[in-house]
Amino acid sequence: MSRHHEPIRFSEDRSAQIVADSFVDTPDPRLRRVLTSLVDHLHAFAKEVDLSQAELDAAIEFLTRTGQACTDVRQEFVLLSDVLGLSMLVDAIENRSPVGATSSTVLGPFHMVDSPPRELGDSIALAPGGEPTLVTGQVLSVDGSELPGALIDVWQADEKGFYDVQVPDEVPERNLRGLFTCDEHGRFVFRTILPAPYPIPDDGPVGDLLAATRRHPYRPAHIHFIAGAEHHAPVTTHIFVAGSPYLDSDTVFGVKDDLVLDFPLVEDGELAERYDLDKPFRHAHVEIRLRKAT
Ligand code: BEZ
Ligand code: FE
Repeated sequence: MSRHHEPIRFSEDRSAQIVADSFVDTPDPRLRRVLTSLVDHLHAFAKEVDLSQAELDAAIEFLTRTGQACTDVRQEFVLLSDVLGLSMLVDAIENRSPVGATSSTVLGPFHMVDSPPRELGDSIALAPGGEPTLVTGQVLSVDGSELPGALIDVWQADEKGFYDVQVPDEVPERNLRGLFTCDEHGRFVFRTILPAPYPIPDDGPVGDLLAATRRHPYRPAHIHFIAGAEHHAPVTTHIFVAGSPYLDSDTVFGVKDDLVLDFPLVEDGELAERYDLDKPFRHAHVEIRLRKAT
């Protein structure tokens, strides 16, 4: 006599469980956990909003356009993750136990892996225009000890809100970028111009999403940093210009209070002479505190 098992058919009630069961042979336990939870939440979401066929088709069309908008120099999926707050959520999860270290924030799409090495005191502004700005700073360990030879990779938009790669015919390559090696006290200094707030690339599907939800595409004025030193975890972060528009509505949710710095207009004669700056100029001083590597 043959034993006959009734197959469990797909139904609205059992949908997530049935798909989860299909992952039972996944060798990687983390992959199984992540996929199972993803399906669980995805199915619960579809039921909660009574997702229609037309809406699923539109979502697939949107994601298709998002993929098609990606090129060597444009990553529309990262942008999507940024405007949905997912990038900053993962950043928060990764940095759950603050220990007095400088906060991290989004990397963004304009970082270059081969940032141009420069000498302390150099200007990273290779094109005319903009408000002269001096940035001084020091890289320390969380316990306050100096980190000699720390590396600082910086990049920023210009006074009109453009990165060099967005206006390649108008500015020299690698404008407003620099890789600096700090001195024996972990100190650094460079000359630049005050960055402007700018819109994230909004001529693709992510821009359509912002427009459909009546959100603006702007980020407050900022300078990007990646700071690293021996025996310490590197930090990817920004300094934001205090008083900039959009500090309270950054379209990628990247602002943290400890990253907002004053850039006062100063007349300091000694600094002006040492760094060949016309007075007055803007001056920001940054202290970056790194976590010890685990
Ligand atoms: C940026 O600051 O460069 C950036 C970050 C996220 C999305 C777009 C731009
Ligand atoms: Fe930026």
